[in-house]
Formats: sequence, structure tokens, C-alpha cells
Amino acid sequence: MNTCVVGLQWGDEGKGKIVDILAGENDIVVRYGGGANAGHTVVIGDTRFALHLLPSGSVRPKAACVIANGVVVDPEVLLGEIDSLAQKGIGLDGRLFISENAHVVLDYHKAEDRLREEALGKDKIGTTIRGIGPCYADKVGRSFAIRMADLLEPENLKEKLEKIVDYKNKIFAALYNAEPLSAADIFEKCKMYSQKLSKYVCDTTAYLHEQIDAGKNILFEGAQGSLLDIDHGTFPFVTSSNSSSLGVGPGCGVPAGMIGRFLGVVKAYTTRVGAGPFPTELDNEIGQYIRDKGHEYGTTTGRPRRCGWFDAMAVKYTVKIGGITEMAMMHLDTLAGLDELKICTGYTSDGKEVKMFPVNIDRLAKVQCRFETLKGFGQEITDVDNFDKLPEQAKNYLKAVAKAVGIPVTIIGIGPARKQTIFRK
Ligand code: GDP
Ligand code: IMO
Ligand code: MG
Repeated sequence: MNTCVVGLQWGDEGKGKIVDILAGENDIVVRYGGGANAGHTVVIGDTRFALHLLPSGSVRPKAACVIANGVVVDPEVLLGEIDSLAQKGIGLDGRLFISENAHVVLDYHKAEDRLREEALGKDKIGTTIRGIGPCYADKVGRSFAIRMADLLEPENLKEKLEKIVDYKNKIFAALYNAEPLSAADIFEKCKMYSQKLSKYVCDTTAYLHEQIDAGKNILFEGAQGSLLDIDHGTFPFVTSSNSSSLGVGPGCGVPAGMIGRFLGVVKAYTTRVGAGPFPTELDNEIGQYIRDKGHEYGTTTGRPRRCGWFDAMAVKYTVKIGGITEMAMMHLDTLAGLDELKICTGYTSDGKEVKMFPVNIDRLAKVQCRFETLKGFGQEITDVDNFDKLPEQAKNYLKAVAKAVGIPVTIIGIGPARKQTIFRK
């Protein structure tokens, strides 16, 4: 059976850990969207891997890894990741497949992301400055796009880059008074990328369907979180791709109907990096407690993550749009030590009940949360090895979240390591 794992909040839910665990029982792991804005952490023994572009299954020596057409690939980051795995004795030759149709993030995308955010000042989105928005904009705009297949054709590429960089330089100079970038330098780098990456580039859609026909099990790894989805998230404070499970089909050419299991990952609370409304945010000592205990600092940018209570209104919405039937709840251990735990079970606005999570940011900024308050659990749970041994209050919390969202919690995270995971039927 094919499985899709996606984040149901604003990213960093712990997808990397779950994908690594499930990769053990799957043949192929596929990244279908986003780029190096993602930061997926996998902890194996004393080694911590922070993966941005390689699927989280790549640390398992037998899993085939696909970077599909929906991903925007920064070759510099990707080569760094391949090298760093090689240094740890993990090779990717013969098992990494990169789509020839995936678009390439180049220096001018990162420059544009930075220049625009700087110019926006207090109105900035708070992007990761990884060039994600500008690269997806070039993809949709078509005329100035570079795909992985273009890297393999240096003569055409040289000409294309001269045209693109000239165009970008004119815009950067006019809008931001910025120094010009050199097309020749970017071309030289591309030649090096091509030499090192061409062996991995192929038609990943054909590869995936061949493997499905051969009965292989595929795991689709979502990046970001469903509330950051460009169409269904809290626009404009979102990323530039369909980061919910709705992105799978366009992102890799495998339709949702061929996926039997949709697993949503949540944190036992909520976090968000970057700007935008956040109804359950705790801008106080409880938020700081969660940040410190849960090490809530961005994997990609190191920024402190904003923390808040679990928002069942938000998750109920992302469950609906994603066709999610079960949840993995990570970081339950982080809540240990709090006297009270709150779950947001409803919103009101202007005194009226809000039926569904509003992605419209003006409406979202106005909602008032209704909370269910539960007793906290004092004891640490990071060493608990089965569900029955969890404190009653922790079990009550899980039950209340499942009830508020309307689907079961089948996996529970009680620490970053593989073994700190409890599975339920
Ligand atoms: P992703 O982007 O969804 O893959 O999540 P990140 O890797 O950015 O952030 C999740 C962080 O939480 C990482 O540092 C993980 O090692 C850590 N983590 C994952 N699950 C748990 C858990 O159940 N408990 C604790 N304490 N840490 C966890
Ligand atoms: P993973 O896969 C958390 C956020 C950024 C910013 C917004 C737009 O690790 O869960 P972008 O650089 O994509 O244009 O930034 O989206 N963002 C993430 N937040 N986790 C992520 O990925 C994110 N990827 C992007 O902080 O608010
Ligand atoms: Mg992350």
C-alpha cells in the first residue's frame, strides 16, 4: 500500500522522524514539493540528520529516493547533503532519482527572495530566503525557467542564462539598486552541478509507475505543513507550493487514488515560523516553556518558532482538505510539567460560531478561541515504552485531541529518537 505523510499545521510537525520510521517498511520515498525551505530532522543513535532536499528515507541504505517534478531543487544544497551523507558512509548511487522536470533554484532566485523581503521590511512574509517563491514564479511564468534537464545541455543553457540573468539584473538594479550577478559565474556553477548530478536525472513519473506496477510500496513525504499550502493555506503567509496532500498528484504524477493511507503529522501543540495570524499563540512564559523544552528553533533558519496550544479547528480543516484518516502526534513529551493543557475546540467571531477554519487572514485574525482545559502531567514520559504506561492525564489529552479533530491518533512521539515512538492499532 502507498502512504502519504503530510504536516497538518504550519510545518515542522516531525514529518522527518515519521517518514524515516515508515521508510523501513516501504521501498521508495518521494519528495513531491517544496525545496530547501524544508528542514526534516532524523535522529539515529547519536547522529542527527537535517535534510532539506533529500527525502527522509535517504538515511536508510536500501530505500530508493525520488525528488519529483514538483520540487524546486537547489543543486548547491543537494550536493552538500549528498556529500554529508557520504561522509557518514551512506551512498545514494543507484537509488537517487531526480526528475528532469524539477525546476532549479539558482543564485538570482535567492537574491530576489532576500532583496524583496528586505524591501518589504515589517510587511515581509518571513520566508526562509531559499529562493523558493522566485523559483516557483519562474516555473509558472515559463519564459525564464531552468529545469534539471536544462542543466544537461550546456550550450543551450549558456544562452538561456545570459538572457535570464540580464533580465533579472535590470529588475534588481531598478527596484533595489542591487549589484549585478554574473551569468558566466552561474553558468560555471551549473556545469559543475551537471557533472555531479546528471547520473541521477531521469523521468521520475515513468520510474514511479513502473515501480507501482511491480508492486512496490511508495511513501510520499510532504514538506512544510498544510496551512502553508499556496491555495488552501493562510495566504499570503504561506509557501509557494501545494504543501498539503493535494500537491501529490501534480508534484509527482501519481494520483491520490493510488494512495491507500493518508497520515497527518501534528505536534501536541502548535508552532509557526515567519509571520501571519496564529489564534492559539502563547506569547508568554508557557510559550517560552514549550520553545525551550521542545527545542523549537528552525531546522533551516535557526529562527525561534512561535508556540501555542493545539488548535483542533485548524487541524480539523487540514484533515478535511487532505483526506487524512489518522494522525501521528509528536512532542507529547514536551508538554510534561505544565499544570494545565488547553485544546482549542472552536472559534467565535463577532459573537457568532465559526464553522470552519478561515484561511482568509483578516477573518482568522478576528477569531476568539474556545478552549477545553485538561489537567497536565508532571512526570517525564520520554522513556515510556508502551501506551498503557503513559500517565492517565496524557492519555486523556490524546483522547480529547482525537475527539476534537474527529480522527484517531495512531502514532505518538515522546522524543526525537526512533525508539521514542508508540504505535497504536
Ligand atoms: P519536520 O520539518 O516536520 O520534519 O520537523 P523538524 O525536523 O523541522 O522539527 C521537528 C523537531 O522535533 C526535530 O528536532 C525532531 O528531532 C524533533 N522531534 C520529532 N518528534 C519528536 C518528539 O516526539 N518529541 C521531541 N521532543 N522531539 C521530537
Ligand atoms: P518543513 O518541511 C516551517 C514558512 C516560512 C515562511 C513561509 C514562506 O521543515 O516543515 P518560503 O521560504 O517557503 O517562501 O517561506 O513558509 N516555511 C516553513 N515553516 N517549516 C517548513 O518546512 C517551512 N517551509 C517554509 O517560515 O513563513
Ligand atoms: Mg522542519
